[in-house]
Amino acid sequence: MAKPFSILFVASEIYPIAKTGGVADVAFGLPLALRDLEHDVRVMLPKYGAISERKNRIHEINRLKDIPIVVGDTQELATVKSSSIVNTRTKVQAYMTTNNHYFDSKWGLYSDPETGLEYEDNDERFIFFARSVIQTCLLLGWFPNVVHCNDWHTAIVPMYMKAMYPDKFKNTKVVFTIHNVSNQGVFPFKETFRKTGFAENFAEDVKHKNKFNFMKAGLLYADHITTVSDTYAKELLADTELTNGLNAILKKRKDVFTPIVNGIDTTIWTPDKDKLITKRYTVDSLEKKADNKEALVEKFELEFKPETPVIAMVSRLVEQKGFSLLKQASEKLFAEDVQLLILGEGDKDIEDVLKALMKRYPDKLSVKIGFDEPLSHLMEAGADMYLMPSLFEPCGLNQLYSFAYGAVPIVRATGGLIDTVKEFDDKTKKGNGFLFNKFEAGDMLKAIRKALETYKDQDVWQHVVRNGMKEDHSWGNSSKKYEEIYRKLLLSA
Ligand code: ADP
Ligand code: GLC
Repeated sequence: MAKPFSILFVASEIYPIAKTGGVADVAFGLPLALRDLEHDVRVMLPKYGAISERKNRIHEINRLKDIPIVVGDTQELATVKSSSIVNTRTKVQAYMTTNNHYFDSKWGLYSDPETGLEYEDNDERFIFFARSVIQTCLLLGWFPNVVHCNDWHTAIVPMYMKAMYPDKFKNTKVVFTIHNVSNQGVFPFKETFRKTGFAENFAEDVKHKNKFNFMKAGLLYADHITTVSDTYAKELLADTELTNGLNAILKKRKDVFTPIVNGIDTTIWTPDKDKLITKRYTVDSLEKKADNKEALVEKFELEFKPETPVIAMVSRLVEQKGFSLLKQASEKLFAEDVQLLILGEGDKDIEDVLKALMKRYPDKLSVKIGFDEPLSHLMEAGADMYLMPSLFEPCGLNQLYSFAYGAVPIVRATGGLIDTVKEFDDKTKKGNGFLFNKFEAGDMLKAIRKALETYKDQDVWQHVVRNGMKEDHSWGNSSKKYEEIYRKLLLSA
């Protein structure tokens, strides 16, 4: 076996400690899969107020107490504590940056749960976090072979490593993964730049369109850039609007830009072992899925009708996820024999739209506002279909969970959804879902109707369900691709 690498995986959210979306799942499943490949992997994230010390068995580390960190004119103390993430096979150590002002006193990850507004000091919070990552390595005397950063919240870490501590990190390679280019960490330039502590000659590296742009630092300073699906990589290179012009950097760095599709942790997301669902099942005992459907529909307080197809959505309530189409399509959609169950939280306007629709179609639509991990599992287990009408979707994890649980995905053909969902063909009986192209209510309705029609012939429907369930979307393949990137970087060092 080749020599194992030491890897520090840095993210702003990691399941189950802190999660708002798919990054948390990736920052859980991928490090554990890399650990399974024998590497020394550790992860690091901030300890937000909502994270319980007791539940996560968080404890102090002697060498990492009260570390002074300068942010602009102020100095705050970081105490880095230790916890771990585990699945049924493996365990990985998690470092967590604690500080009352930036994290503990704030319940939400990025925004105030009461108002829905982003915290005004998010620039400071993630500068502070980035510097705590560097200090942790310095104080531990641990300079990993690879530091792997994710999205804008951690994108400035490579710049601190290379612009401020080039000698210390001379043997460390940095990988930066774009999970979502639509959030770049954009702030007023002057104020935020001053808070970073970088010398003036570094200003251009974080300036984009006269604003401070965290993601730009990641794209410039990483040794290798990845993103989470082939099609999204193409979209990123080609689309100036989607990338807010950052595609110019990606084009220049094309040789070190690689797409790797996300996997799922199959020790957690598998219907035959899932403790969060009503009845466990496999592809050979699909009849048990009906018990989950009944439990789910009852939980959403609709009348259970075994023959009526149930469509589920579990999602951050943001424009990206296509809720505007749902509103436009509602009249025609709810004229069909169908029940739609939605679990989500986020944008207050979208919450209001969904609540109003629920009032109008009380027998057909039920919405739960909130974040509910156990319920998200039951939704995959109980639903017949799963809807993702995304405007864009870098990878998407719910369609992958849906395959595993036999909930047939109906998705818009964009990003990672194109790469993973294949249109069902009635003649060949191949395909695992239904797609539509245009971001239009009419096109979405066509795809939903095709799914509803197919569902009527249960013999045919079983093919779609089984095709998805039989696929392998575990981290096995993708984690090896990351390993290969690390290996090449370290060989070239
Ligand atoms: P994104 O990262 O853009 O939100 P993904 O499809 O990659 O989209 O991942 C979303 C993840 O977040 C899934 O694990 C999904 O089940 C979970 N999720 C989203 N909203 C909720 C919610 N309200 N309650 C529970 N889980 C949620
Ligand atoms: C982002 C994307 C989503 C992707 C996830 C994990 O939040 O919106 O498509 O699956 O990151 O990579």
